Amino acid sequence: MKYAVITFGCRVNQADSLGFEEALLAGGASAAPPDLADLVIVNTCSVTASADQGARQTIRRVARANPGARIVVTGCYASRRPDELAQLPNVVLVVPNDDKARLIPLTRVPAGIGDGPCGALIEPGVAGRTAFTLRVQTGCAEPCSYCIIPTTRGAPRSQPVEDVLREAERVVAAGFKEIALTGVHLGSYGRDLASPSSLIDLLRALNGVWLKPETTSGDVLFRISSLEPMDCSSEIVDLVADSPRFAPHFHLPLQHASDRVLRAMRRPYTIERYAALVNDIRARIPGASIGTDIIVGFPSETGDEFEQLAVYLESSPLTHVHVFPYSDRPGTPASALADKVPGTVVRERARRIREIGQRLAARFLASQIGTSHRALTLEDGTLAVTGNYLKVRIPPGRARNEWVQLRVASEHHGELLGG
Ligand code: F3S
Repeated sequence: MKYAVITFGCRVNQADSLGFEEALLAGGASAAPPDLADLVIVNTCSVTASADQGARQTIRRVARANPGARIVVTGCYASRRPDELAQLPNVVLVVPNDDKARLIPLTRVPAGIGDGPCGALIEPGVAGRTAFTLRVQTGCAEPCSYCIIPTTRGAPRSQPVEDVLREAERVVAAGFKEIALTGVHLGSYGRDLASPSSLIDLLRALNGVWLKPETTSGDVLFRISSLEPMDCSSEIVDLVADSPRFAPHFHLPLQHASDRVLRAMRRPYTIERYAALVNDIRARIPGASIGTDIIVGFPSETGDEFEQLAVYLESSPLTHVHVFPYSDRPGTPASALADKVPGTVVRERARRIREIGQRLAARFLASQIGTSHRALTLEDGTLAVTGNYLKVRIPPGRARNEWVQLRVASEHHGELLGG
């Protein structure tokens, strides 16, 4: 039995998809391109209207190119509008997020009848990814006014610390050298557990295990994925600054630099607090990469408020900016707000922030010329990613998933060259 998994959206979805692949491989199925697969799982995102549209287009394209395919749709769009997706060609099953753990049994793929090596283990490179994305939490109880995710992912649920440690050990034993820790609201990790814990407790526990000299597989690097600014405590910054086990990389969604817009978005921090946080990170960890997400064109955003955002970003120590033009999600409080910003204005504002993002990224790359790093090889071994998320081209001769020591020598058309 041949399968394909197509994943949209965030790292949480990537982590879920990795779980599907693992179960399918263990049952003896083998991976194939979607056009040749018997079973195609489409793991959808619904964060914007264009995410929904992308999923529909993909399903139609797969059905056209591979009329015999059985398509199973899951993810956030499948949780939000199962009826819409069930009508699309070749869709045999729609599985909401809450049933993802049962998705493979529901598809009725009998274990052990595949043509792959039965019981094959997951290994680095599955789904084209060298790092393992480990979901330690899902769900969110603090909805932002524009966000649909709390309705698609439900209440917060965390994996107990011991389970995360066990899973991380299994993944390291399978050969992974980098683990990205992710969650829908990662910073709320542990609050819902029977014996409450916190993200810093979890990070310290992981750090403690992998810093022990007797741990033979002491090579692993943990990367903290997106963290809400109010959850990025000084303890977390201290740990990342002090421990070689944590990548000097932060992703702290700002969304806006006007306190009025932040309040309307229901984001519980001020621009002053955010700026102090990223300035502190830059001072403590000079080479850290610090990414952010920005929404432009939120309902009622004025020209002055937008300029405030542009001015802040230009002067900030941020290194990567993802721009999201505001997208109305039916049922959210923001979608009921009057004073929508016209589409042409939203697009122009997005273009300007993207330009600023390019300047910030270029400035960061330039600041990194001449620096030395340990980096993990990707793809065919001629690209390596550093802890601070630089992708550096290196001479051939390495395999994927090896640690290398490199020096960033130069930059050529946005690509870093190292040796
Ligand atoms: Fe998209 Fe759902 Fe993630 S809406 S961003 S896949 S939590």
